[in-house]
Amino acid sequence: MEVEDLSINFETLYGTLKVLNGVNFIINEGEIVGLVGESGCGKSTFALSIMGLLPPQAKLMGGKIYFQNSEINVLDEKFMEKIRGRKISMVFQEPLTSLNPILTIGEQLMEAIKIGSDKKDVKKEEALKWLKRVGIPDPERTLKRYPHELSGGMRQRIMIIMALATKPSLLIADEPTTALDVTTQAQILKLMKNLVKENKVSVLFISHDLGVIAQIADRVAVMYAGKIVEESKIFEIFENPLHPYTKDLLSSIPKLEGKSEKLPTIKGSVPNLLNLPEGCIYHTRCKYVMDNCKVKEPELKEYLTKRKVACFLY
Ligand SMILES: Nc1ncnc2c1ncn2[C@@H]1O[C@H](COP(=O)(O)OP(=O)(O)OP(=O)(O)O)[C@@H](O)[C@H]1O
Ligand SMILES: [Mg+2]
Repeated sequence: MEVEDLSINFETLYGTLKVLNGVNFIINEGEIVGLVGESGCGKSTFALSIMGLLPPQAKLMGGKIYFQNSEINVLDEKFMEKIRGRKISMVFQEPLTSLNPILTIGEQLMEAIKIGSDKKDVKKEEALKWLKRVGIPDPERTLKRYPHELSGGMRQRIMIIMALATKPSLLIADEPTTALDVTTQAQILKLMKNLVKENKVSVLFISHDLGVIAQIADRVAVMYAGKIVEESKIFEIFENPLHPYTKDLLSSIPKLEGKSEKLPTIKGSVPNLLNLPEGCIYHTRCKYVMDNCKVKEPELKEYLTKRKVACFLY
């Protein structure tokens, strides 16, 4: 998947929100890429735009999207229907809203397997195999149950295997574990990582928490106010974060061993998307701000080996 210079506005009662501002993004085959940023910075909008699921008030201002080497037109609904849920599948934050409440787990899972295998009939054994792979206890009984009868962790597992059973080339996971406790979250992340590596699926994994992304991603892109400000391998981000925003995000990760009860958060807030600041979009909160930053906008450019950063410090 390759996204080139994607810009999206939202027309609202208050004016035009500039939600995505020239996003460039590549996900290579078999790679797990994290997308991190604070709430409201445009992560979900980015995911929905690749899926062609933007709400009507969203306006595509420019940009191109390539998938498996051909350009896709996300506004062409007929075309997107063939891709969505088949070649690209998505796991949402709250699985209750995306599982069908009136169908059993078995019925929904078999349907997903059918899509992935091009077969007319799918044997129950195949569904059982998927449930066993993710450690669902009593899989026979689970097949006959309805979504509301399962715990959050179980539903999340079901959503993930359903998304993978369709055999997609790309899986988009938008905060798929936020609603879960830390232990279940770690289990599910490990499981997801194993499943996607086994099935050679590429993944876009979205979270506001770098600690979560570190458990699953190979590479991470940092988004701020609809722009990618840094892109690096995950270990490099932790070892030597480049962009001041990345540094601030890292120091806001809760440390388990820490004694302080208050979570450190980044000072200030995400800029008003109705009226983005001139120059660097982070200059209003940046500890290292220079005069230049207030008038000129730094471009995302290569730094050292295969890292990218949009900051005048580099
Ligand atoms: N349907 C909509 N109509 C108008 N504005 C919207 C709509 N959906 C999102 N926005 C606005 O677009 C901006 C980006 O929202 P988005 O949901 O993409 O952020 P996010 O990074 O996913 O945040 P979160 O971490 O809270 O999920 C926000 O300012 C939000 O208020
Ligand atoms: Mg979101």
